[in-house]
Amino acid sequence: SEDEVVNITYIDRNGVKKPVRGKVGDNLMYLAHRYDIELEGACEASLACSTCHVYVHNNYFDKLQEPEEEEEDMLDMAVFLKENSRLGCQIILSKELEGLEVTLPQATRNFYVDGHVPQPH
Ligand code: FES
Repeated sequence: SEDEVVNITYIDRNGVKKPVRGKVGDNLMYLAHRYDIELEGACEASLACSTCHVYVHNNYFDKLQEPEEEEEDMLDMAVFLKENSRLGCQIILSKELEGLEVTLPQATRNFYVDGHVPQPH
């Protein structure tokens, strides 16, 4: 129902805003996949990679649940880490997150799948 709708905007690597309609309970990473947004998810949300890394808009960062220790550990290995970094697969949509904007980082380190380390330029 409309009550359950949570509008989310992904900002892709080129700075293009992609608004989508999610719903309460959706996983931010799988929602992106449903709309063909280039957010990876190499480990299928099992906290064994950091390819689902996103930057959370500051107005929403504190509304998220505190990260688990495993998430912190994975984030430590992410490239281009910032204060507002989170793993997308650990963000579950709630009404409070209505209007959330997340930005995809310039690159992710996919050590889980192939050990490839992107070089910042
Ligand atoms: Fe691997 Fe999110 S998909 S930690």
